Amino acid sequence: MYRYKYALSLVLMAIVLWALAACAAAQPTPPPSSEDGRPAPPAEYAAMTNPLKGNASAIEAGKSIYNSNCASCHGEKGLGDGPAAKSLNPPPKPLAQEAYLTDAYLYWRIAEGGGMEPFRSVMPAWKSFLKQEQIWQVITYLRFLMG
Ligand code: HEC
Repeated sequence: MYRYKYALSLVLMAIVLWALAACAAAQPTPPPSSEDGRPAPPAEYAAMTNPLKGNASAIEAGKSIYNSNCASCHGEKGLGDGPAAKSLNPPPKPLAQEAYLTDAYLYWRIAEGGGMEPFRSVMPAWKSFLKQEQIWQVITYLRFLMG
């Protein structure tokens, strides 16, 4: 009889432990915070916010800028899978999945590119090719791709 109870309590304990483990596993992973481990944008970019946020014609203009300048690396839908992506190290980022990045960070990285520490990538510095307004248009389109 005692032995039976002992076995039963072991089984119960196992069930409790399993339930606890299942609860712990079900905890949602916290959403990434602002730059999620990336360096913060330098002071001259830090306060920038998108003046064209949500603007429908900016989305259209940004889409054509994106398709001709960014999609070859970052992919048509912004998933980091453009035709050039496979040959790049570090690889292009899946921008459409990085909604947590701030406007300031996006502007800084698009303007200055990857030719600096700690990035050291082929990401071009677009400030020589795109006007400020065009960079905001492409960011407005990125926000649209982010959903
Ligand atoms: C020649 C390939 C190439 C092209 C073209 C390119 N990128 Fe990139 N981009 C990269 C690579 C590689 C990275 C990842 C390394 C890094 O952060 O520098 C990157 C990083 C970025 C980041 C930083 C994302 C993060 O998670 O930190 C942004 C924003 C970005 N690109 C936007 C753009 C936009 C907008 C365009 C077009 C105007 C563009 N890129 C064109 C290669 C490219």
